[in-house]
Amino acid sequence: MRRDLVRLLQKSLEGVLSEREARAVETGIDIIGDIAIVKLGESVKEQGGRVGAAILASMKNVKAVFDQEGGLEGDFRLRKLRHIAGEQRTLTVHRENQLRFAVDVEKCYFSPRLSTERLRIVEMSRPQELVLNMFAGVGPYSNTLSKKRGATVYSNELNGVAFQLHLRNNKMNKVEGLTTTLNEDARRLPELLDIKFDRVLMPHPSQSHRFLETAAKMTRGNGWVHYYRHVSGYDYGEAERELSQEVSGILGTGGRFSVRKVREIGPRYLELAADIQVAA
Ligand SMILES: C[S@@+](CC[C@H](N)C(=O)[O-])C[C@H]1O[C@@H](n2cnc3c(N)ncnc32)[C@H](O)[C@@H]1O
Repeated sequence: MRRDLVRLLQKSLEGVLSEREARAVETGIDIIGDIAIVKLGESVKEQGGRVGAAILASMKNVKAVFDQEGGLEGDFRLRKLRHIAGEQRTLTVHRENQLRFAVDVEKCYFSPRLSTERLRIVEMSRPQELVLNMFAGVGPYSNTLSKKRGATVYSNELNGVAFQLHLRNNKMNKVEGLTTTLNEDARRLPELLDIKFDRVLMPHPSQSHRFLETAAKMTRGNGWVHYYRHVSGYDYGEAERELSQEVSGILGTGGRFSVRKVREIGPRYLELAADIQVAA
């Protein structure tokens, strides 16, 4: 599906940019709802209007196009966006796995590339579990677990804009009754929630190492923690070893775990997940 999208992007640029220019448009296009986000290399920055118009012409569901400048920034993992074509708005509704998510692509984190990972977590869980999501964003993992597995989810997000959209998404996906949404720093969760969870999600790969001990303490014996990390390594084996050492170092003998690849972020740069079963 992603490959189809990249092919469509390349096709839409034929005749608009030279072959050399087209190579400076990175293949990392994302479509979130009706908004397309591309990354233009320095040599084609000035061609933004033409690239945007070509995308609007070839992708009929796209109504606005932005150029992402740089990577994701800060604790909230936000994109810096430059408008290049179409409507001047950053709010949209994204459809994924039969759910809908209101997203502001500039003011909140959201990645459509994690839709398969969300289903993986659903597949790993049993019906009606008690789940904590420490870093919920606009609620894609939390709402998916409630909708597809009847999970009761305590879903926490520090970014106020994402938190408000999460509340809206709970309603839109009809999981309000199963969701307690919090707008807290995850550090405070142990003092606010005197609960042991069946499953704790930590989808904040750049910072989750600061919270792993807390997550393990909030998980019942034999319950699960899903610990996401960005790891750079020359190959998967090396990255896996690095993450395994990190988890062992933080948890000690407090659990068993296996490591798997979630996705490739860049050359020699992976997102990995450690699925940790906390000691009884
Ligand atoms: C990588 S994003 C993942 C969001 C969501 N799970 C998703 O997949 O769309 C990490 C999220 O953690 C939030 N965050 C960052 N620091 C936090 C903290 N100390 N406590 C709670 N949330 C935090 C960010 O605002 C961001 O929405």
